[in-house]
Amino acid sequence: MSGNQTFTMIKPIAVKNNYIGPILKLINEAGFRIKAMKYTHLNKQQAMQFYAVHADKYFYEELTSFMSSGPIVAAILEKENAVADFRKLIGATNPEKAEEGTIRKLYAESMSHNAIHGSDSDENAIIESDFFFSKTERY
Ligand code: CDP
Ligand code: MG
Repeated sequence: MSGNQTFTMIKPIAVKNNYIGPILKLINEAGFRIKAMKYTHLNKQQAMQFYAVHADKYFYEELTSFMSSGPIVAAILEKENAVADFRKLIGATNPEKAEEGTIRKLYAESMSHNAIHGSDSDENAIIESDFFFSKTERY
């Protein structure tokens, strides 16, 4: 994929608040194309597996309970410089620090309920995409 794909999840709070449409609109307007997409619901064990890198953090329990609390939208997105450009589009983890116009600034409720996930590296984009999609869906 070499830099042109990233992975995202629209988190349960944003799905519940009916923000799937507005968020996808911003993603498209920013030049990303949807390569694969799935409306699904993680169970607690799957959420723990997805966020295993944070297993030792104080917020792991709350994060994984929240992420398994309702349906999400998972997607693989394509664009040049996808990972970095998407992190810029979603904004800082803490929505109070997110820039104006970013998805988290617009749609997050709090640090834990921050509306959307974005991969932090090309390597993790592949790992995270493979968590939800078959490799043929990525190509
Ligand atoms: O999602 P992002 O890469 O911006 O942040 P992270 O450091 O990888 O943390 C993953 C997720 O854990 C965040 O998006 C938040 O939902 C949550 N989190 C939290 O609830 N409290 C923190 N102090 C840090 C992260
Ligand atoms: Mg992260």
